[in-house]
Amino acid sequence: MAARIIDGKAFAEGLRGRVADHVARLAADHGLVPGLAVVLVGEDPASEVYVRNKGRQTREAGMLSVEHKLPADTSEAALLALIAELNADARIHGILVQLPLPGHIRSDLVIEAIDPAKDVDGFTIANVGRLATGQKAMVPCTPLGCLLMLRAELGTLSGRDAVVVGRSNIVGKPMAQLLLGESCTVTVAHSRTRDLAGVVGRADIVVAAVGRPQMIPGGWIKPGATVIDVGINRIPAPEKGAGKTRLVGDVDFASAVEVAGAITPVPGGVGPMTIACLLANTVTACCRANGLPEPEGLSA
Ligand code: GUN
Repeated sequence: MAARIIDGKAFAEGLRGRVADHVARLAADHGLVPGLAVVLVGEDPASEVYVRNKGRQTREAGMLSVEHKLPADTSEAALLALIAELNADARIHGILVQLPLPGHIRSDLVIEAIDPAKDVDGFTIANVGRLATGQKAMVPCTPLGCLLMLRAELGTLSGRDAVVVGRSNIVGKPMAQLLLGESCTVTVAHSRTRDLAGVVGRADIVVAAVGRPQMIPGGWIKPGATVIDVGINRIPAPEKGAGKTRLVGDVDFASAVEVAGAITPVPGGVGPMTIACLLANTVTACCRANGLPEPEGLSA
């Protein structure tokens, strides 16, 4: 029987709705408006699209959106000065510096300059450490989106075997920490894993985040498993015409959908959740900054 398709677009819409409701309540009850600052250095076209979408969705949720677009030759010192300004700005509860940064700027230094309380990406060492030690953290948006979808799909995750394929700082490692926090038995697999097919085949939950198109075939997946595909890979699609391309995940959807119990498609799965989680993190940061109770269901 074919798997249930997990509709990330609908899920993200629902999450954005809950965010907007909470924003309206913060305004009515406390006169508070959560504010998100996004900083973009340079003119990478993909980053410009992301930043535009972030700004639009932030405003649509009723929040303050501040965008800082800086030229590609901005100095590291100037960027650090802007971050210091945003750290001190009481209207701003979340700061996101769009990555990648130009090569002359040290990304790790810039990320560490962000006040951990405003680090809505969850990239600072303080937040990485808090997540790893089970304390209240700001959690990276993409793994948070995966977790919210898994909880909605499966209810309790406790005791389940989970494999995370990929060990990046942005997705794989925080995803593994979140699943551990849910009392899963977690395996982190990567490019050097010896028997990847065997490791994937034992898992009740598969999170694929390696960035290699369709590398996980349906034949590896345990029947009935829940598959979350984080990959977004563009591949040639000659069937659509000369020079055409299409997006695929890290999982071979056509074969996996026949075996899995539930699966996220690409596009329309994890992707739409990432910005929705950024908005949720900004609301969470605003509540924490003001000593208010956090909204249910918006954080880890
Ligand atoms: N570039 C691509 N994805 C991300 C992300 O999640 N956060 C930031 N800051 N930059 C990105």
